Amino acid sequence: MKLALGIESTAHSFGIGIVSFKGEILANEKEVFTTKHGGMIPSAVAEHHEKVKDKVLKQALKKAKITMQDISLISFSQGPGLSPCLIIGMNFAKQLAEKYNIPLIGINHCIAHLTIGDLMCKTKDPVYLYVSGVNTQIIAFAGGKFRIFGETLDLGLGNALDKFAREVGLGFPGGPKIEKLAKEGKYIELPYSVKGMDVSFSGIITKAIKLFKENKKLEDICFSIQETFFAMLAEVSERAIAHTDKNELLLIGGVAANKRLCKMLELMCKDRKASFKAVSLDYAGDQGAMIAWQGILEYNAGRKENLKIVDIKPYERTDDVMVNWKTI
Ligand code: ATP
Ligand code: FE2
Repeated sequence: MKLALGIESTAHSFGIGIVSFKGEILANEKEVFTTKHGGMIPSAVAEHHEKVKDKVLKQALKKAKITMQDISLISFSQGPGLSPCLIIGMNFAKQLAEKYNIPLIGINHCIAHLTIGDLMCKTKDPVYLYVSGVNTQIIAFAGGKFRIFGETLDLGLGNALDKFAREVGLGFPGGPKIEKLAKEGKYIELPYSVKGMDVSFSGIITKAIKLFKENKKLEDICFSIQETFFAMLAEVSERAIAHTDKNELLLIGGVAANKRLCKMLELMCKDRKASFKAVSLDYAGDQGAMIAWQGILEYNAGRKENLKIVDIKPYERTDDVMVNWKTI
């Protein structure tokens, strides 16, 4: 069985996945940087990745019951991400590639999120709704590239939910707590903010915090935030499906855990006679298997990298990448 190893290190997670060229996941190990106070200081996260990298590799090889000699391809996240963290992943990938004489390629982290979703959900050419902490984007393949049809103009969906939760003392991560409280809530009108194919969340959060200070029931506010945000996303996703003439919607990113979001998107898709799928949580967040799988796709399409000149690409956008591995 031909195997690829993928290294993820764009942000808080250092992950190593081992995937067969047929798309079976043999291992997907990771260590996540956490901190009690404050955010992520890039140098501290990089230090964390440097410290855990050998351990994560060992765990992954053990899980897959193989040695480095069984690996035919190594890929790593070239970007976008925090430079000090990307460098740790790349240097580790280079060291392993040189030591064991294995071909190496660098790949785009955001595109890997899309293609692992396709592998897991067996989608061919969906509209992707990508909702994580940081990201909120509506993406579809058109004219040889993954194009961003719409996105948030301010906060990512997860961060918007987390911000409200923090302000009202629910703690972190806020998304799951808001989902739970919303089950007992009733609708209070909130502003609705769709601009063309883009959405914005921060004004709605400001209004929601104001309602909380006016002693409105927290359950009602949580319910109303969810209904409003998710309706906005269902609207732009529906328009993207109509414009691109596609018949599948794939939900990816950590907020895919939210059952109410899934339900609303499912209903919208049913109305349009489109299919709806959501990626399972093991493959929604950052991990190495998606990097390995994207490596396989590009390697099979003829991508080669010169180990001496390969570098990180901290600012590479999804639509910077020319897609030559997709046949639809
Ligand atoms: P990336 O770097 O890939 O953008 P990320 O760290 O920003 O990843 P994810 O790990 O994909 O984000 O997702 C985390 C977010 O998902 C958090 O903001 C969290 O509140 C949110 N979330 C998790 N579960 C739920 C849920 N059940 N409902 C709503 N939001 C949720
Ligand atoms: Fe990510």
